[in-house]
Amino acid sequence: MHKDLQEVLISTEELSAGIEKLGEKISADYEGRCLTLVGVLKGSVFFLTDLARRVTSDVRLDFMMLSSYSGERSTGVVRILLDLKESIEGSDVLIVEDIVDSGLTMSYMLQNLGTRRPRSLEVCTLLDKPSRRRAEVPIKYTGFTIPDKFVVGYGLDYNGIYRNLPYVGVLKREIIEGNKTCR
Ligand code: IMP
Ligand code: MG
Repeated sequence: MHKDLQEVLISTEELSAGIEKLGEKISADYEGRCLTLVGVLKGSVFFLTDLARRVTSDVRLDFMMLSSYSGERSTGVVRILLDLKESIEGSDVLIVEDIVDSGLTMSYMLQNLGTRRPRSLEVCTLLDKPSRRRAEVPIKYTGFTIPDKFVVGYGLDYNGIYRNLPYVGVLKREIIEGNKTCR
């Protein structure tokens, strides 16, 4: 385990098994259709690439980057930093996110992408932290429901660090208090 963590919450093996199950469900639900996976940068990339390889329907990938976070706490203000490359009009769209916490980011995305007239629009999140929800979000696919702890790894970061950890772990309090950065 990385020295900055207090515990591993979801191991590499558990992640892999959970994503395999999600892939089976999604493959069954979208069988014979073409699915547009919209990855939310940067946190979803590890999850997205593993999940996409478990989906047997035809898939295309597109990305969005939004900002609402600075450090550990959400500011509640969502901005589009990078928009989709392709039109989603008439498409089956599945938003792929690392974690739904307050729900503000996802509710903004659903509202925004909903106006582009997709054929269907659903949410798949690796992690759900329901205890901190401020906006109600309909989540169709959830990998793991977790308690109210600040987690990193497998795409999730603190100040841009720890995304490459092959598991999800809880960051030590002192690392957050010390505001660790990477230059
Ligand atoms: P929300 O808008 O509060 O639901 O926040 C969603 C975004 O905040 C996620 O896509 C993450 O990038 C980030 N986030 C929320 N909780 C955590 C966490 O525990 N660790 C790392 N990032 C988090
Ligand atoms: Mg994110």
